[in-house]
Formats: sequence, structure tokens, C-alpha cells
Amino acid sequence: FSSDSVRLVEVGPRDGLQNEKSYPATDVKIELITRLAAAGMATIEAGSFVSPRRVPAMADTGDVMRRLPIMPDVSLPVLVPNMRGLEQAMLAGCREIAVFLSASEGFSQRNIQCSIQESRARYIDVIDAALVAGLRVRGYISCVVRCPYDGDVPIDKVVQVAQWLLERGCYEVSLGDTIGAGTPAHIRALLQACAATMPVTQLAGHFHDTYGMAVANVVAALESGVRVFDTSVAGLGGCPYAKGASGNVASEDVVYLLRGLGMQTGVDLPALVETGAFISQALGRATASAVGRALS
Ligand code: HMG
Ligand code: MG
Repeated sequence: FSSDSVRLVEVGPRDGLQNEKSYPATDVKIELITRLAAAGMATIEAGSFVSPRRVPAMADTGDVMRRLPIMPDVSLPVLVPNMRGLEQAMLAGCREIAVFLSASEGFSQRNIQCSIQESRARYIDVIDAALVAGLRVRGYISCVVRCPYDGDVPIDKVVQVAQWLLERGCYEVSLGDTIGAGTPAHIRALLQACAATMPVTQLAGHFHDTYGMAVANVVAALESGVRVFDTSVAGLGGCPYAKGASGNVASEDVVYLLRGLGMQTGVDLPALVETGAFISQALGRATASAVGRALS
């Protein structure tokens, strides 16, 4: 691996906080994002424009975006589920959005109240409008390994959705193991199947750590050629519509891993560990990052 660099997408402020019952105040979110940027995170998912009744923790995303200091070198994507979300994102000055589809019907229905087919139809206009407005569009696929409602998800389902997202104009597709059920052998098989029809360089790994496999899955994906990973400071995270889903792989753990492999991330590990301690304290709990615990 040694001469390669890896791009990290810090998802703590969105995926990490969306499931919190006592979520932090807007000021704390702004400080979290500012600290992550100062630690060298060049892409930070700042929030989502979804139904505030369904995901109350993200209701202030517009305020977060408007009140953040100008950080010209940092991308701040936000999740949008529909046209209304796109409009709100544009009003708040967002330059990048993320759209999210599921590879399983059960999760699609619970998460966004429609079938995979309906969500594709809805997203055609959203993606087109975003691209016309000059926004960058990232795609997510949920439940790429297993669905909390439908069980194991066939690999070809995932490949189909990924192809569709890339054809519609997403610059990258993030493969979400929403409930952290994947193991390295499965991740390798999934990426091998994807690589037959799309460039692996347009894929990202998004591994939740429910079964403690996330770092191993990052290694498997690296071996398969993936160079972009979604990670969450202090291992925050979970999805309100995926029971038992725990946090994303911790940013601190992945930075430590990559440093050990001689790969560049541009992230300052001590500053990241401090940021993990900051948000853990704000949430009143211990960090879920093993590296965070070891270094603080
Ligand atoms: P619906 O009920 O079909 O939509 O929900 P609707 O149009 O009938 O609207 C329902 C309510 O939401 C209405 O308000 C709308 O005004 C409002 P009410 O009358 O109930 O007060 N609404 C909105 N409000 C703000 N912004 C919007 C918006 N749209 C509608 N954009 C909908 C469909 C998609 C809106 C809903 O199901 C929803 O918001 N779901 C949120 C799902 C979500 O955020 N899940 C977590 C993110 S996905 C994830 O975590 C996985 C990922 O990390 C990858 C992985 O781990 O695998 C990405
Ligand atoms: Mg997730």
C-alpha cells in the first residue's frame, strides 16, 4: 500500500449524531466540525435535510451550515432525501449533497417510506437539479451486506444500485454496511463483483462496527483497491431505522491503521483524539474509539 494516500469522509456530525436522543446544541456541532477541519479532515458530512419529526437531531442542519466559519478547503456534504431537502441545502449554501438508496426493500420502506424503485424515481430529478446547479453529488447504498428486516442482501442487488447511482452522475458511491454485519471475505467478494462493471476508485467503504469487524473490513477494502472511507470521530453513530446498528468505524482507529501501513490521510492524530474527547465529553460518555482510549 505504502505510497498511496487515502481520503477520509468524516461522518460523525451526521451519522454519528443523528441517532442521539440528547443531541448536542448547534454551537457544539459547529465546534465539532471546526475542530475536525482543524485536525485535517477535508470532507466532513455536516448534517441532513430530512424530516425533523423522524430525525430530530438533524433539525438544525440549516443553522449549522449558515453559522460555520468559511473553510474554503473543506467539503461539507449533507444528506438529502427529496427535492425539498435539496432546496433547503441550496438555501443554506451547501455545495455538495449525498443521496441515499437502500439495497434492501425492508430498510428502504422503514428509512424513507418508499420502495427502492420509488426512491430511484424520486432521486432522478433531485440529482439532475443538483448537478445543473453545480453541486457535487455523492451516493450512498445502505444494507450492502445484511438488512435488519430482510436478512442477507444478494451482492448483485448492491452492484445494480451502485451502477445506477454512477450512471445518474454521482461522483462516488459509498457502500454502507449499515448494521456492521460484514466480514472481510464478504467485503472482498462484494468489491470484486463491483469491480467487474465500475472503477473501484469510485467506491467508498462505510463500515459500522456493530460486530467489531469494521477495521478488518477497511483492510479488506484497501486490499481490493478502495481508497476512500467514511469514518466517525470517537466511533459515534447508528441509524434510527436500523435497530442494533452501532457507530461507524472510529476515525482515530482508521488514521492509526493507515499510518501504520505508511499511507497518507492528511489528518493529525493527536488533534483528532482531542476532538473525540471533546464530543464524548459533550455527550457524557466514553469514546468508542480504541485508539482514542489508548492515546488519551
Ligand atoms: P414521507 O412521510 O414519505 O414524506 O417521508 P412526506 O413527504 O409525506 O413528509 C413527511 C413529513 O416530513 C412532513 O412533515 C414533511 O413536511 C416532512 P409533517 O407533516 O410530518 O410535519 N419532510 C421534510 N422535512 C424536512 N426536510 C425534508 C423533508 N421531506 C419531508 N427534506 C422522508 C419521507 C424521506 C422525508 C422521511 O422518511 C425521512 O426524512 N427519513 C429520514 C431518513 C434518515 O434520515 N435516515 C438516516 C440516514 S440514512 C443512514 O443513516 C444510512 C447511511 O449512513 C449509510 C449506511 O450506514 O448504510 C447513509
Ligand atoms: Mg451509516
